[in-house]
Amino acid sequence: MKKITIAIDGHSSCGKSTMAKDLAREIGYIYIDSGAMYRCCTLFCMRHNLVNPDGTIRADELERLMPEIHVSFQLNPEKGTPDAYLNGENVEREIRTMEVSSHVSPVAALPFVRTAMTAQQQAMGRDGGIVMDGRDIGTAVFPDAELKIFVTASDEIRAQRRYDELAAKGEHPDFNAVLANLRERDRIDSTRAVAPLRQAPDALILDNSHLTIPEQKLWLLEQFHKLTQ
Ligand code: DC
Repeated sequence: MKKITIAIDGHSSCGKSTMAKDLAREIGYIYIDSGAMYRCCTLFCMRHNLVNPDGTIRADELERLMPEIHVSFQLNPEKGTPDAYLNGENVEREIRTMEVSSHVSPVAALPFVRTAMTAQQQAMGRDGGIVMDGRDIGTAVFPDAELKIFVTASDEIRAQRRYDELAAKGEHPDFNAVLANLRERDRIDSTRAVAPLRQAPDALILDNSHLTIPEQKLWLLEQFHKLTQ
């Protein structure tokens, strides 16, 4: 059976990655977290002093160094999901910190960063059989994807999920700071000039505010089977 391309887009911390990972594992597809790629670029900026004290990015310098940024994924056999690597180093934990979260949107808004990451994402999905999640997968990266899902949930519920995720890793940020960061990221992601966060006209909408993880998994599998059976 032909393997299709599945694009899952939506707001930050709405559980896209959880559902995308689960689905990919269940149907034997490759899973790619495109947000991790923008997070890797951001970590690179932080390590190379490319973040100004006011949070703006030294874009000219970053553009010059862009050819030195190589993002890849390797399956973590313990977790059964891919970890992100920046220039060969496993940075999966480091890219999930609040500090990276607070700088990632301005980096992801830079057109030359998007061009580079989009090209890498399209190469990864060339043969189909991929589930990719992000903000512009159904609109810019794979506009011809057979299955497109746009996921959302209320701001407070999303902030609580993010807070719980950070707490489980030993970080204990202020809940209001998490909520503010999430709203600010959504604002920048939705209003940027290039490939803004937007629902593709042919995407199915899933508001998972009141769904459990097993319930949303079931819903997603149903959509997949409708297309492939
Ligand atoms: O999904 P995430 O929170 O890990 O994404 C991190 C940031 O990367 C997010 O603020 C927006 C950006 N992003 C993007 O612009 N395009 C994508 N396809 C994925 C993420």
